[in-house]
Amino acid sequence: MSVEFETQSGVALITLNHAPVNSLGLAVRKAIVYAVRRAEADSTVKAVVITGANGCFSAGADIEEFADEGGLAFRSPTLPEVIDVVERCKKPVVAAISGFCLGGGMELALGCHFRVAERVARFALPEVKLGLLPGAGGTQRLARAIGMREALGIICTGEPLNAERAALLGLVILAEGDALGIAAAVALEAASRDERPSLRNREVSEEDRTDAEKIAKEQLSTLRHARLAHTACIKAVTAAVTLPFDEGAKVEFECFQELLESADSKALRYAFFSERTAGKIQSVPANAGIRPIDSVAVIGAGTMGAGIAMCCLNAGYPVVLVDRSRDVLDKAMATIRKTYDAGLKRGRLTEAVHKKRLEAIETTTNMAAIARVDLIIEAVFEQMDVKEAVFRTIDEHAKDGAILASNTSTLDVNRIAGFTRRAGDVIGLHFFSPAHVMKLLEVVRPSQTLPDVLATTMKFARKIGKVAVVSGVCDGFIGNRMVEEYCRQAFFLLDEGATPNQVDRALEQWGMAMGPFAMSDLAGNDITYAIRKRRAVEQPDRPYSNIPDVVCEMGRLGQKSGAGWYLYPAGSRKRVVDHEIESVISRLRGKTGVPRRDISDGEIVSRCLLALVNEGAKILEEGVAQRASDIDVVYLNGYGFPSVQGGPMFYANKLGIPEVVSQMERFQRGYQGKFWTPASLIAQLLKDKKDFNHA
Ligand SMILES: NC(=O)c1ccc[n+]([C@@H]2O[C@H](COP(=O)([O-])OP(=O)(O)OC[C@H]3O[C@@H](n4cnc5c(N)ncnc54)[C@H](O)[C@@H]3O)[C@@H](O)[C@H]2O)c1
Repeated sequence: MSVEFETQSGVALITLNHAPVNSLGLAVRKAIVYAVRRAEADSTVKAVVITGANGCFSAGADIEEFADEGGLAFRSPTLPEVIDVVERCKKPVVAAISGFCLGGGMELALGCHFRVAERVARFALPEVKLGLLPGAGGTQRLARAIGMREALGIICTGEPLNAERAALLGLVILAEGDALGIAAAVALEAASRDERPSLRNREVSEEDRTDAEKIAKEQLSTLRHARLAHTACIKAVTAAVTLPFDEGAKVEFECFQELLESADSKALRYAFFSERTAGKIQSVPANAGIRPIDSVAVIGAGTMGAGIAMCCLNAGYPVVLVDRSRDVLDKAMATIRKTYDAGLKRGRLTEAVHKKRLEAIETTTNMAAIARVDLIIEAVFEQMDVKEAVFRTIDEHAKDGAILASNTSTLDVNRIAGFTRRAGDVIGLHFFSPAHVMKLLEVVRPSQTLPDVLATTMKFARKIGKVAVVSGVCDGFIGNRMVEEYCRQAFFLLDEGATPNQVDRALEQWGMAMGPFAMSDLAGNDITYAIRKRRAVEQPDRPYSNIPDVVCEMGRLGQKSGAGWYLYPAGSRKRVVDHEIESVISRLRGKTGVPRRDISDGEIVSRCLLALVNEGAKILEEGVAQRASDIDVVYLNGYGFPSVQGGPMFYANKLGIPEVVSQMERFQRGYQGKFWTPASLIAQLLKDKKDFNHA
């Protein structure tokens, strides 16, 4: 049942019960209207309380219903109609809120006459994160409830607020303990006074009415990257304080319709669904068992090991951190403590949580300590002989059924699995640096991994707050294999006449969080140098530009050495363009004999992005990625690809496969053009008139 109805002592209790998060799809909306009408018609009912089962009030609209025009979201009763029925109910309606009260759920609560919230309640209007705005009167009611400035802060960021803050703003009555009992009392009290205050009738403050334009401008100036959805939110909230309610609601609705059709929102909604879909693993039966994971060991306490340990501690796992060196362990503990101390200082951690996390970690040089844990994550040096020694030792000590994971970024996980007598229990867990910050986790699936190991690992990934994508075994997995081709093009562009700053700026202006040269400086130029040296042996027929090798050999390793493609004076992370490097590049370019030409920003963007697309297509046709959207999830969460562009494969679909092919053919006639043979999947899609998401 999607909505439950019961009456008790004159109060009708309407409980949204649509697992997992009481989303407000058509069936739920119909049931709410039915329940409210029933409460109105029942003469024994004096007041109504609306609450949610499943530990939350409601996480909002069912956004799958917005997938197409005329989708279920627009079938009557629509959410604005439901809220109207609630707000106009002849008996007082009180929302009793626990857990999430988000989006349409919060708009529903705003339509109630009173709101009572438990301390654990969390409120947000996150629509802007999907390129939308709250379209069920949320912009109108919130602005009237708390004033234009506060409402804009909440609506334009989409960030959550806790119950205490909501109470301070006058949005809710804070319940110490169970909200239901208090909500029922508030409801009966209101009934006895015949009070049904609605936000639609709330007076707008004088300041908001007269200064609306000024407040709107102020808000716009606080946004670093104002997009269509932001300006629409500001327009709708301005309408809320300057127009009668129904007219303001009309402006909100028009803005919502426009945003729904916008390219930004389409890409953001695609990204949202892609992330969800990535969790579904092909060829693993839904009933594959899940192994219990209650404790973790991390082997190798270097850069990655310390970060991985924090991810696990943050999610409540006890961790054994192992390294061969006591010194390294002490340094890792100092890093971990420093991070948690900073969290405490900034108020992100309570004293109790800070203490609990530090008590949950144990450090040791003795590998036997891993015997009791359920999951072992190896993060030692990236050398096969070191991995072999470590995995043989793990195999000796780990208990039966433990999952053995490697954080290798380039090595063959099939070979690593072969170092144990339990290849079925081995998996790759490719974290990104800094491991406790980056959302992406590539779950690398060697050929023998058992289905329950994969299913358990995906569940663990979710528990530690990662966005996990399954990748087959190949050099670089999904993300780094593609980024190599992206960087290869960036380096060729230097050969032809571009500067690092021009390439970075063009891609950053297009939306990438960081251009390839700044990214290389951050990661360390020695890392890609080592890969290029390996490639020179493995793939002698696939040349690279010589420029990055020379730059690295000059000792310009990037941020860590204070200079790379840019300068980083006095340990700063802020890059400074270095004219010396530009003259080095120009000298090297002269030696290659490639004629210098002016290169447009448009060409830079197309070359680099289509290099990602072509390699992504090969990854798809080889079955390394399960689906095109998984590749996009990797790029959106691990490589700073702009979410409003949906990911490289989405970008290619938007461009259209014929245009992709035509651009690649043009590049084929240019410098190092032999790299530009379209992947056979692309040729097939062109022939079949399909795209990556409809292959
Ligand atoms: N640094 C990154 O950005 C990054 C990103 C993703 C994956 N990785 C992968 O993570 C792994 C670790 O990388 P890192 O950057 O943390 O390296 P690191 O050099 O910072 O740390 C490696 C640690 O392993 C320890 N170690 C070596 N041999 C050991 C053994 N036999 N027993 C116990 N400990 C041992 C070392 O003492 C060192 O502390 C590598 O496989 C790397 O490819 C690194």
